[in-house]
Amino acid sequence: MTSRGWWLGAGVAGTLAAIILSSCSSIERTVMAPPMIEGASFAGNKACYECHTNYTRQFASSAHGRVHVPDARMKDQTGCESCHGPGSRHIASGGNRSFIVNPGRDSQSCLTCHVQVHAEINLPYHHPIAQGRMNCVQCHDPHGSDIMKASKSGLAMSRLNESCASCHREQSKPRVYEHDAMREGCTTCHSPHGSINDKMLIERDSNLCLKCHAQVPASNGDVVIGKVNHSALGFASRGTCWSAGCHPNVHGSNVSPKFHY
Ligand code: HEC
Ligand code: HEC
Ligand code: HEC
Ligand code: HEC
Ligand code: HEC
Ligand code: HEC
Ligand code: HEC
Repeated sequence: MTSRGWWLGAGVAGTLAAIILSSCSSIERTVMAPPMIEGASFAGNKACYECHTNYTRQFASSAHGRVHVPDARMKDQTGCESCHGPGSRHIASGGNRSFIVNPGRDSQSCLTCHVQVHAEINLPYHHPIAQGRMNCVQCHDPHGSDIMKASKSGLAMSRLNESCASCHREQSKPRVYEHDAMREGCTTCHSPHGSINDKMLIERDSNLCLKCHAQVPASNGDVVIGKVNHSALGFASRGTCWSAGCHPNVHGSNVSPKFHY
């Protein structure tokens, strides 16, 4: 992870007080520190309005428009500068880019608050965000009313698959035999930021499938899934449902209703 665009200017500006979020949220007791810009102070959202009218207007309805960062220096004017850093020098210079942080180039300013996501992108299997090959905004719209929407494609993603489809066409294309699980979204099986499991799966073994495909124990103790006796044929001992050679095409198939090919 580079620190470019994060600590701006020569030399690190003074210490930044760690801020404890006291509101009731999933990142409660998280250290929330806005990025620093040497010699700059916080100007407040209203100051951005003049030149960035559209972003400032839509921001009120965004997830972060409701976030309160209790930093005395931000004087209740929280919002834009929690991600972009204090704007006074950017404004005074008429919009010089070297005096404002753009987290679209470096995710670091998102990760200071989202420590859980920071941990996830460093798990063994991950989207290459920490490596700088991908960025949060390829899947999240930071200013709009729906943060789960990719700003460029404009398609809802949290439950749907379109955002993933823009990069993963092969897994997302329509098939003759569709797997109904796909309707619930890619995140039914994949963790979007990272996972300890190969292919970023949320479960490493057949439990991934069994949460929907309940096993029915037959009277003799055999395991029956989908009306097929998986014990009698020794299926269950071969590996996972997809790696054992039985249902490798879990994303759907054009030839096999059981996703065998
Ligand atoms: C949650 C963090 C976050 C907050 C809060 C935020 N932004 Fe941004 N902003 C971003 C990210 C990320 C990008 C990069 C977007 C991209 O590359 O698509 C960005 C980009 C921008 C840009 C450059 C757009 C461009 O076309 O290059 C402007 C201007 C901007 N933001 C203004 C604002 C203003 C004004 C506010 C407050 C009303 C604000 N932002 C609040 C994260 C944030
Ligand atoms: C006086 C007008 C003005 C004000 C006020 C202003 N900006 Fe800007 N801003 C600009 C201009 C002009 C650019 C485009 C600079 C360029 O493309 O070189 C810009 C670019 C940006 C960018 C993109 C930087 C990048 O690296 O791509 C961000 C982010 C941004 N502004 C955030 C803010 C925030 C946050 C505020 C309020 C604290 C703010 N601006 C207030 C004029 C302004
Ligand atoms: C100043 C701290 C801070 C920064 C910086 C920040 N966030 Fe957030 N973010 C929050 C808080 C607080 C919430 C609301 C959490 C909640 O309600 O559980 C939130 C909510 C979110 C959500 C929605 C979570 C949900 O469950 O609906 C997403 C996605 C998100 N942030 C992504 C980002 C991205 C991407 C960036 C950088 C562009 C970023 N955040 C920067 C504090 C921050
Ligand atoms: C590959 C697409 C993708 C990228 C890149 C991505 N996210 Fe997400 N993110 C998602 C999806 C999809 C969800 C919804 C997960 C769900 O519904 O189970 C999500 C959820 C979240 C949430 C809500 C809490 C949670 O973990 O479910 C936060 C906060 C968040 N993302 C922050 C970030 C930040 C910060 C970055 C950049 C470091 C980032 N995301 C990069 C796809 C992505
Ligand atoms: C902006 C492009 C982009 C988007 C959007 C995107 N991905 Fe990815 N995905 C990648 C890249 C790049 C890799 C890493 C490929 C590599 O390292 O060779 C990857 C890897 C993966 C892998 C692991 C592949 C493997 O062979 O190990 C899975 C699974 C995955 N993505 C699922 C998703 C899901 C689910 C979504 C939607 C939440 C999504 N991706 C959205 C670009 C994207
Ligand atoms: C029912 C669970 C499930 C759903 C839903 C699902 N996947 Fe997968 N995905 C898997 C499994 C299991 C693998 C591992 C296959 C293997 O190792 O052969 C995988 C592998 C992948 C890979 C790695 C390349 C490959 O084909 O092996 C990518 C990329 C991927 N999935 C993307 C997606 C996307 C994008 C979506 C949504 C459109 C999605 N997946 C929905 C279970 C699922
Ligand atoms: C979110 C729930 C869900 C998950 C997770 C899920 N499935 Fe499915 N699957 C379904 C539904 C719903 C159907 C269609 C109804 C049925 O046949 O049970 C289906 C159908 C199937 C079929 C076709 C059954 C037939 O008789 O035609 C196979 C094979 C299958 N799934 C395998 C898997 C495998 C392998 C996994 C794990 C990688 C998995 N499923 C994960 C919900 C799920």
